[in-house]
Amino acid sequence: MPAGDSFFIATPIFYVNDVPHIGHAYTEVAADVLARWHRQRGDDAWLLTGTDEHGQKILRTATSHGVTPQEWADKLVTESWKPLLKTVDIANDDFIRTTDARHEAGVQKFLQKLYDDGFIYQGEFEGFYCVGCEEYKQPSDLVPGTGAYEGEQVCAIHSIPVEVLQESNYFFRMSDFEQRLLDLYEAQPDFVQPDSVRNEVVSFVKQGLRDLSISRQSFDWGVKVPWDEKHVVYVWFDALLNYVTAIGYGVDDDEFRRRWPAVQLVGKDIVRFHAVIWPAMLMAAGLPVPKNVFGHGWLLVGGEKMSKSKLTGIAPQQITDVFGADAFRYYFMRAITFGQDGNFSWEDIAARYQAELANGFGNLASRVVAMITRYFDGTVPVAGDLTEADLAVRETELRVTAEADAAIDRFAINEALASIWQLVDQLNGYITEQEPWAIAKDSSQRERLATVLATALRGLGTLTVLLSPFIPTATHTLWQSIGQGELTSQPVDRAAEWSSAPEVQPLAAGLFPRIEQPEPAA
Ligand code: MSP
Repeated sequence: MPAGDSFFIATPIFYVNDVPHIGHAYTEVAADVLARWHRQRGDDAWLLTGTDEHGQKILRTATSHGVTPQEWADKLVTESWKPLLKTVDIANDDFIRTTDARHEAGVQKFLQKLYDDGFIYQGEFEGFYCVGCEEYKQPSDLVPGTGAYEGEQVCAIHSIPVEVLQESNYFFRMSDFEQRLLDLYEAQPDFVQPDSVRNEVVSFVKQGLRDLSISRQSFDWGVKVPWDEKHVVYVWFDALLNYVTAIGYGVDDDEFRRRWPAVQLVGKDIVRFHAVIWPAMLMAAGLPVPKNVFGHGWLLVGGEKMSKSKLTGIAPQQITDVFGADAFRYYFMRAITFGQDGNFSWEDIAARYQAELANGFGNLASRVVAMITRYFDGTVPVAGDLTEADLAVRETELRVTAEADAAIDRFAINEALASIWQLVDQLNGYITEQEPWAIAKDSSQRERLATVLATALRGLGTLTVLLSPFIPTATHTLWQSIGQGELTSQPVDRAAEWSSAPEVQPLAAGLFPRIEQPEPAA
């Protein structure tokens, strides 16, 4: 087991009513980058993702396709959600489905404990329900409908009418936890991040919490309530528990203690579930709350939240087919401030691909490897006396490594990349200024040529280590040419200490080839 701390990070689990779009892939990539970074720092990292398969939304979708909800979920998981992980190169450690037996048993165990301890009671409820959100809505969450829904009140997120539901259900005493939650936000100011999201959560809880309806009798696609099998568990109550059922809640105490509590990345639309309901559930069960709940922004297309229901959904593969998985990962992590909304455009990704990946990093790698091959027959040169310019490269390597590591700790993923890119730019500038091709013409400057290329190669190797959590494929290829041992075994927080091979191997092709037609037909 690695020497470092436990770093358990989880994505939300995705509804299987539809296929993934780039908003879903965005959450996956962010979590994967953080997990890879921590793993490569020697932490005991664990990345969990999975699918949310119960509830009315999935049931209705399956029924409308003439299949059972289980058949529908199996098909979507096999054909779409698991393949998504390959498409964007996610190195997850586990994949949980809410229809897994391990999950259903854990949900029942948890619920029974809360029932036995007096946190659950039976009552009546009537309210507006949005099946898209799988949530009861307050009148203030509704907006006037347009088009086909003119004259009706619709959900502000899904733009579809809400339904009036009246049920006799089981309720969780969430209102008991109002003060404890406020105390938590106060005592642990980084529990909900970023600050803008935290402020919203605090003011929401300050308005007062109502008890939560946690069972349904009107349909049966869900986990059965253990003491009253006419009810199934409310889909969110069921889904939130995936974070603990996946790590052995109630069956493997050692594993549970090793992993929990988690860092949770979620889109800002589902922060309330994770920063209010979820910690209240855990408090009721006497378990620690998550380490952090980070609410990231939305990907917008043409200024609107991208979604399948609004027909603005873009499949991740449409982008990876053109630019590759590395470029997908790099672009979304670099171009969008993590925690804020960001607009996607084909022009923007094409421009960054060319300027930053192909011309910036890719070209640097090709030039350094090619010059060592040409001037030193591939043998890695040994540096002689160092000038100020050489030392400055060295200093930047150390500085950006520390900055990127600190940025990752703050979930500032885009800032980590921006810091690392200072080294890309500095190395390109260094080579332009030092002109190794000119020095190479003067045989009396052989030692200086060796120093310049050794310095450039050192910097390039440091970059390869630092970038490996972001662009694993290109860095792996480059590592085959310059590095020794496994790339992922090089400690990322001490990237400048990487071990070089004695000889570089020529790179067969550019790391980021020219893209002839960046925009697929609309
Ligand atoms: N099933 C629930 C989560 C349960 S977690 C216990 C759910 N699923 S979802 O499939 O609708 O959304 C999953 C995640 O994708 C959420 O974090 C959501 O914010 C994110 N995104 C969906 N559309 C998005 C964008 N357009 N942009 C960024 N993230 C988006 O909610």
